[in-house]
Amino acid sequence: MSMDLDKILLKFRTESQKIKHKDQIEELRIKYLGRKSGILPRITEKIPQLPPAQKGGVGTQVKKIRAEIEDTLTKKISEGAVNHKSFPQDVTIPGQQRNIGSLHPITQVIEEVKDIFHSLGFTWVDGPEVESDEYNFQKLNMPPDHPARDTQQTYYIDDKILLRTHTSNIQVRYLEKNKPPVRILAPGRAYRRDMPDATHLPFFYQIEGLLIDDRSSMTDLLGSLDFFVKRFFGKNTKIRVYGHNFPYTEPSIEIEVYHPKKGWLEILGAGMVHPKVLQNAQIDPKKYRGWAFGMGPDRLVMLKYGIDDLRILYNNSLSFLNQF
Ligand code: DAH
Repeated sequence: MSMDLDKILLKFRTESQKIKHKDQIEELRIKYLGRKSGILPRITEKIPQLPPAQKGGVGTQVKKIRAEIEDTLTKKISEGAVNHKSFPQDVTIPGQQRNIGSLHPITQVIEEVKDIFHSLGFTWVDGPEVESDEYNFQKLNMPPDHPARDTQQTYYIDDKILLRTHTSNIQVRYLEKNKPPVRILAPGRAYRRDMPDATHLPFFYQIEGLLIDDRSSMTDLLGSLDFFVKRFFGKNTKIRVYGHNFPYTEPSIEIEVYHPKKGWLEILGAGMVHPKVLQNAQIDPKKYRGWAFGMGPDRLVMLKYGIDDLRILYNNSLSFLNQF
């Protein structure tokens, strides 16, 4: 038996030296190690029937040979050279171009917004997408059955846990742990039970902004947003501001930017943070004040690149995405 094994090894060595093409590596592997009819596995099968005195020796020898075969074949694969010997390389053939991806336009816009607000002293944080009713609604001055919840219907995990309807859930969460002065952005996904159309989807992105200190005013909010819009869209961009109602700001506003095809398009809601929100985060509203906004980067992308249907941003079409 051990004579046979020596012969097998010698034979393998000669054969492996002749390998010229990578297919032959696989052929040899199957011939010697293949599970069904490989030479070594067939010998291994027979070991239990050998006289006890031989079993151990043969076992060890088979193991050694297997290791050598595996080693040799792996080396051949990594040399890769085998392929080139039979197909010499033509160095004049142009190289293969690699497909390198790029950041999704929404990601690019979020990065740009972060950059612009960074110049105003803002940094950014993350918030949970699976959120409690408490932080998404109650702590923002929207108790159960508050009518403002009607425009923000969402997906409930149970009575208390839901998919956040806006990034505003970060406000009280952050203020509970960080005392003023505060200047943060919180970009991320939000969810609503909206029917998909050209300007709505059941999931979308938002960027929350929150500034708390002891002196900021509505004028600072308007000035900062005007600064942002001009930096983002160009210095001749005009915004339209009008009153609104959010339970977590007082007063509240909405801001629109002009889209050549769609007319004025709302890009964000904002306002002076409601004293109750500050109280809910154990911050004294007599000492501190501030403003907040929630903007839609999806809408910013539409305006910036003249896109008139939001859905194209999410259907993974390469001919669209390759333009960015
Ligand atoms: N959460 C609002 C929405 O999703 C947007 C918003 C309005 C955010 C006012 C704010 C704010 O922070 O102060 O429509």
